Amino acid sequence: MIPLIDVKGITKIYNGGEIATKALSDVSFEIEKGEFVAIVGPSGSGKSTLMHILGCLDIPTSGTYIINGRNVENMNDDELANIRNKEIGFVFQAYNLLSRTTSIKNVCLPMIYAGIPKTERYERAKKLLISVGLGNKLFNSPNQLSGGEKQRVAIARSMATEPSIILADEPTGNLASKQSMEIMDIFDELNIKGNTIILITHEENIAKRAKRIISIMDGKIVNDTGRLN
Ligand SMILES: Nc1ncnc2c1ncn2[C@@H]1O[C@H](COP(=O)(O)OP(=O)(O)OP(=O)(O)O)[C@@H](O)[C@H]1O
Ligand SMILES: [Mg+2]
Repeated sequence: MIPLIDVKGITKIYNGGEIATKALSDVSFEIEKGEFVAIVGPSGSGKSTLMHILGCLDIPTSGTYIINGRNVENMNDDELANIRNKEIGFVFQAYNLLSRTTSIKNVCLPMIYAGIPKTERYERAKKLLISVGLGNKLFNSPNQLSGGEKQRVAIARSMATEPSIILADEPTGNLASKQSMEIMDIFDELNIKGNTIILITHEENIAKRAKRIISIMDGKIVNDTGRLN
């Protein structure tokens, strides 16, 4: 079986600042469908850079990234947008919710881009919000929600197009420990349903809830424990 995610010798150099920064250096690993992986490492070690590449939000300077058997290098912008929309659900530390609109409309948004009809969008969004325990907050806007609730809306939104991969960058970074554990419970459930979960964290107790931990330091993988095979 081909791995869901196949990263081979990826290097990422940022040329934007005063000096070039090598954020990732010859990184290689595979992730199988259905894995639950935590990527850990200190600040500046390259975690977000890696997540942006895995999520097709950015491209590596060199090396190959094959997602579900397809080489990202050979995809045009439309194909990349399509992968981002259909295959991958993103959860960001800062939630990235639209502040002036309701929970349900936030969850509907990716479904608009995916061309899902309105009635189905609302039905699905409602179901997703109920599944993360927000059935009574469908019409609240983000400023009427707690941090943990906002993150749950963001998770519901990430699931809206039924992606096979959930990529989460510090999904519990802004949360108290009880809320963090509730968020991790939701990821557990999604993983049990067959979703592949990849989350970035620098909190040890969060990483421990994943089945596999990839440690990264100075842009290199220094440890990889709990791999499926
Ligand atoms: N757009 C950019 N332009 C230039 N340098 C960047 C850019 N983004 C990140 N970097 C640099 O690349 C390195 C890795 O950054 P990255 O954001 O991947 O780290 P991180 O592990 O996610 O850190 P944190 O835990 O603080 O979020 C850092 O040295 C950072 O300064
Ligand atoms: Mg980061």
